[in-house]
Amino acid sequence: MELSQVIKERRTIKDFNGQPVPDELLDRALEAGLWAQNHRLTQPWRFTILGETTKARLAQDFPKIASKPVVVAVSCLHSDGGEQEREDYAAVACAIQNIQLEAWNEGLGMQWSSGKMSTGSHLHELLEVDAEREFFVGLLFFGFPLEIPAARARKPLAEVSKRLP
Ligand SMILES: Cc1cc2nc3c(=O)[nH]c(=O)nc-3n(C[C@H](O)[C@H](O)[C@H](O)COP(=O)(O)O)c2cc1C
Repeated sequence: MELSQVIKERRTIKDFNGQPVPDELLDRALEAGLWAQNHRLTQPWRFTILGETTKARLAQDFPKIASKPVVVAVSCLHSDGGEQEREDYAAVACAIQNIQLEAWNEGLGMQWSSGKMSTGSHLHELLEVDAEREFFVGLLFFGFPLEIPAARARKPLAEVSKRLP
């Protein structure tokens, strides 16, 4: 697919068919994240891929997790609590965008989930992630789309931009 087509046609996918996701396909998508821009090359992203046992544990408290074929937790290294940490969070978001675009290019859908379920402190113990070292940016749900929702309209460029002399 053309890059511009991938960018425009990418959609958040919340409902998945039962088709299993090959590990190599998931790895290729995650590897695309490693090439995201990040200031001072901090590479602040960390990925935890949940196995079936861990997913089932999380689903005890959050049943909807059970319907997600693959769950990957994304965390970000803490740094100075200030500018660097803000930039590192932005870098992780860039990585997630790369991951979603790479996945989409291969027919794999993804949702970035960012609520309490996906970023709360309950995740540290369950996922063996040190709370002093990393904070959660979200859970990524991967799978093959049951259906592709229609895009919701974006504001035109003219409405969100200005050109100065
Ligand atoms: C920082 C961030 C957090 C998000 N959190 C959620 C979420 O918790 N649940 C959800 O359904 N979608 C979440 N999304 C996805 C957006 O809802 C989605 O991108 C938006 O509805 C536009 O749809 P599209 O991705 O198909 O273009 C998140 C996106 C971003 C960038």
